[in-house]
Amino acid sequence: VLVDPTAMAGMSRRVDHRSPSPRNTAKHSPDTWTFNKTLSSLIRKNILRFLDPERDISILKGTLKPGDIIHYVFDRRSTTNISENLYRLLPTASPMKNQHHRRCAIVGNSGILLNSSCGLEIDSHDFVIRCNLAPVEEYFEDVGRQTNLVTMNPSVVQRAFQDLVSEEWKGRFLQRLRSLSGSVLWIPAFMAKGGEERVEWALRLILLHTVDVRTAFPSLRLLHAVRGYWLTNNVHIKRPTTGLLMYTMATRFCEEIHLYGFWPFPLDPHGKPVKYHYYDTLKYEYTSSSSPHTMPLEFRTLSTLHRQGALRLHTGACE
Ligand code: CTP
Repeated sequence: VLVDPTAMAGMSRRVDHRSPSPRNTAKHSPDTWTFNKTLSSLIRKNILRFLDPERDISILKGTLKPGDIIHYVFDRRSTTNISENLYRLLPTASPMKNQHHRRCAIVGNSGILLNSSCGLEIDSHDFVIRCNLAPVEEYFEDVGRQTNLVTMNPSVVQRAFQDLVSEEWKGRFLQRLRSLSGSVLWIPAFMAKGGEERVEWALRLILLHTVDVRTAFPSLRLLHAVRGYWLTNNVHIKRPTTGLLMYTMATRFCEEIHLYGFWPFPLDPHGKPVKYHYYDTLKYEYTSSSSPHTMPLEFRTLSTLHRQGALRLHTGACE
């Protein structure tokens, strides 16, 4: 068992959209947090029984060939083919092979980061993971710039880059990709149908402009394995969010894990409004019951792990 199961079970019944009370948030015990190495190692060991993040972070080249048919993870009856471009960009070895870092930051996209001044602190970590190509340049004081791994759901191409309808949008997208030089670009291309064209456009640009990113395409088993791990620990998530996926995977590569920008609530602990994303106008309806995610439940789970010292959740301003 991963953590106190009674605490976990209790949390799963309290799924709502109210902000946690100040007393219960990570923000209010910054000085008392100490890293629980034993628990963190136990979690790593338990996760490894469900998945091996080093292996499952990406399908490797040797296992597929162009034209192979893939069934989408969430739309099992729909299929896609491995394109020439995707094949060319499959890694030959795990992009995280033999990587071990002492302190990692995972940066979620909540508006709680705005005015946090956490940029420098985030950048001080040995390895920084970001989600969905969230912009950094305009917000660097609050979110930092360093990026060692960044995810890109296919929907991001549409939501943040207008489906590359014009040369201008293509240029912006290319610029964002170029700014990732040397990082891992993690593209969940086979999760749900509908994104294949967007993935293809992105891959074409990467190849055409020899963008220096290390592409990774998560294995088909990853999502089920991650969900399985949390379900076994009594956390009844519907579909893990990118943030939870990243935390689950990071346990393999990181000693101490620090989370920033995780706050799926419209108000902060003092009742002040918080934007859903720090960089756009997406609304909280996005986390409604029709959403595939169960973010507040995930948050409470992460809060419990924070209190137990397995990870550190930063929800307040940085010094
Ligand atoms: N997140 C959060 N609170 C918010 C917004 C995001 O805790 N208000 C965390 C979630 O873990 C989320 C991650 O930050 O997965 C990245 O945000 P986002 O890009 O919105 O991710 P997803 O919702 O998982 O992506 P998608 O909507 O494409 O499924």
